[in-house]
Amino acid sequence: MDSREEAKWAAARGALEYVQDGMHIGLGTGSTACKFVELLAELAKEKNWKFVCVPTSEVTAKQARDLGLKLDGSYPDFGKLDIVVDGADEIDPHGNLTKGGGGALLREKYVALNSGKMIVVVDEAKHVEHLGDTFKLPVEIVAFAWTSTMQRIAPYVKSMELRKRDGKIFVTDQGNYIVDCELYAASDPVQLHEQLKALTGVVETGIFPHIANVCITGLADGGSRKQEF
Ligand code: A5P
Repeated sequence: MDSREEAKWAAARGALEYVQDGMHIGLGTGSTACKFVELLAELAKEKNWKFVCVPTSEVTAKQARDLGLKLDGSYPDFGKLDIVVDGADEIDPHGNLTKGGGGALLREKYVALNSGKMIVVVDEAKHVEHLGDTFKLPVEIVAFAWTSTMQRIAPYVKSMELRKRDGKIFVTDQGNYIVDCELYAASDPVQLHEQLKALTGVVETGIFPHIANVCITGLADGGSRKQEF
C-alpha cells in the first residue's frame, strides 16, 4: 500500500474513537470516507453494535448497504445525527473546508449541518493556508439557465469551468450542475461563501465555513493527529 493510502486508513481508524453503540451516523463520500464506512461495518460485526446511517451520496449508500449497515429509512427527512465522518478536499488552519470534489457537496453539507459533530478525515496533503490554494471551489448551480448563473458568479472568482465527465455535463445526485472555480489568492472563505449563496441560481457552495468540529489527519506511518475547532 502506498503511503497516502496508509495515511487515509489511519485517519479513518482515528475517527472510530468517536463511535458508540446505537449512534446515528452520517457517512461521507470519497476515498477516505469510504475507508471509515468499511471499518464501521467491521466494528458493527465484531461487537454486535447497531448503527443507523445516513449516506451523503448514492455511491456511499450502495457501499453501506452492501456491507450490511442499516440506512435511515426516512432519508432525506432524517432526524439529528450524533456524528458525521467525511473527507475534505482542503482544510485551512481555522477548520474551514472545501468539499465537492466528488460532486456530493449539497448532501454532505445537509448531513453535516444535521449532525452533533462533524469529524473530518484527511491526509497531510489536504492542509492549506487558504482555501483555493490547491483545489478549485465546486459550486452547485441549478441546471436551468446555467449560463446566466455562471455569469453572475464570474465577478467573484478568477476563472471557472462547468464540470464535465466523459465529455458530458456532470449532473449531481440532485440533478444540478457544478462549476469549478479558481479563487483569487487568499480569498476570505466565509465572505465568498455568503456572496455566492446570495446569487440566484446558486444552490450551494463547497465551502464549509466553521462547520467541522474535529479534523483527524492520517499519517504515512499509520498514526494520526487530531485538531479540534
Ligand atoms: C466529495 O464530494 C468530496 O467532498 C470528498 O469528501 C472529498 O473529495 C474528499 O475525498 P477524498 O477523501 O477521496 O480525497
